[in-house]
Amino acid sequence: MTSSTPDPDDHPRPQRFHVKSFGCQMNVYDSERMGDLLSAHGMEAVDSTDAADIVVLNTCHIREKAAEKLYSDIGRLRSPRADGSRPTIVAAGCVAQAEGAEIAARAPAVDVIVGPLAYHRLPALLREAQAGRAIDTDMPAVPKFDALPPRRAAQATAFLTVQEGCDKFCTFCVVPYTRGPETSRPAADLIAEARGLVARGVKEITLLGQNVNAYHGGLTLAGLIRELAAIDGLERIRYTTSHPRDMDDALIAAHAEVAKLMPYLHLPVQSGSSRILKAMNRAHTRESYLATLAKLRAARPDIALSGDFIVGFPGETEADFEDTLRIVEEVQYAAAFSFKYSIRPGTPAATMADQVPEAVKDERLARLQAAITAGSLAFNRGTIGRRCAVLLERPGRKPGQLIGKTPWLQSAVVSIPGAAIGDIVDVEIVGAMPNSVEAVPVSHQESAAA
Ligand code: SAH
Ligand code: SF4
Ligand code: F3S
Repeated sequence: MTSSTPDPDDHPRPQRFHVKSFGCQMNVYDSERMGDLLSAHGMEAVDSTDAADIVVLNTCHIREKAAEKLYSDIGRLRSPRADGSRPTIVAAGCVAQAEGAEIAARAPAVDVIVGPLAYHRLPALLREAQAGRAIDTDMPAVPKFDALPPRRAAQATAFLTVQEGCDKFCTFCVVPYTRGPETSRPAADLIAEARGLVARGVKEITLLGQNVNAYHGGLTLAGLIRELAAIDGLERIRYTTSHPRDMDDALIAAHAEVAKLMPYLHLPVQSGSSRILKAMNRAHTRESYLATLAKLRAARPDIALSGDFIVGFPGETEADFEDTLRIVEEVQYAAAFSFKYSIRPGTPAATMADQVPEAVKDERLARLQAAITAGSLAFNRGTIGRRCAVLLERPGRKPGQLIGKTPWLQSAVVSIPGAAIGDIVDVEIVGAMPNSVEAVPVSHQESAAA
């Protein structure tokens, strides 16, 4: 099965690779870094799996469905193409970490299995795979980041992983097992990586961590944000995902004081019921969460908030669920993500009594999503008439249209003659949909006067 695996360093034409992301923003960051690494070894990125000699499936383990996608992709990739070839298949990411042995047993076509903390070894693993399947799901003491080449990013926005892993052990969640304990990268390395990104034209950096606000790499997250804000050419800073427990006063003060820090915060609450939060081991209550938001809004009155919700956690009653609906109304989220509780083997909640029937989860999810959509529309309508800057990120559907992000992370559709992707333009918001706003250009003088 592996004798056809090509040697990455010894091939007549550059090896072509494709990395497919299945997961969160950190998973996307990891995919980009694996791409940087393979490119630095002389390989060439291609847009589809069909044209690739090597396919990296960068998997997510967070819910059951996410893991299943790996096996359906392997099934497709392992059948020979018209010319009889098939690509080298790499299973990377959080499923590889959690279920490496199971993948090896269930999917013989997989050539390399590599966890999220070991992917700096990918070129070596591809070489080893010529002699038989190569597996590395170690959680090494030496951080992978030191072994990665410089970034090749070429867009206006970029992710930057500053913290990885989780010590919180929410009873529903696999991340502490797939990403290991919380570790922070040294601030000096991050400032250097950020400078490199800005030199390549990046204008907005989103700092990533499973618990990004638990960052402690010589500076706190607030300290790191202040250092990054001093980089000329870096216009916008965001960070995600934060844990309510680690939302300290210094970070809240940064929202009031650092102009480049965008007025947006993703702060997952998971449930509006303190009883369920306790069973989830979230270490915050409904009240403490709302008190944190009140402080944030006092510091930065226009801050937009988003969250994550799980419906149908074991033991969730109709009354608990109504507490969740009420918190959505009370907070007025700009956006929110909601999921049906998914049993993850090995986590404490998987064996809790009173698992909620699937039909009840479906019904609660539909009601919650209706409330979230109504809230997003209300938030977007509330911004009509505001003037703000939009960072243009991609073409829109109609000719001449561009789509960018407002400071509040709304997708803004705007037609501005002469503007290009990567530009920051001044606009006025004139229309609102649940998932986007419509904006028109205003001149810089006009917006400064506004
Ligand atoms: N702190 C993390 C959370 C990662 S998981 C971060 O950096 O983003 C993202 C979201 O997935 C969680 O906030 C939670 O709402 C949801 N989630 C996690 N485990 C889940 C499970 N077992 N079932 C359903 N949703 C889950
Ligand atoms: Fe998972 Fe909870 Fe850690 Fe977030 S804080 S990654 S939900 S265990
Ligand atoms: Fe998924 Fe791993 Fe991210 S489980 S959500 S890819 S940390």
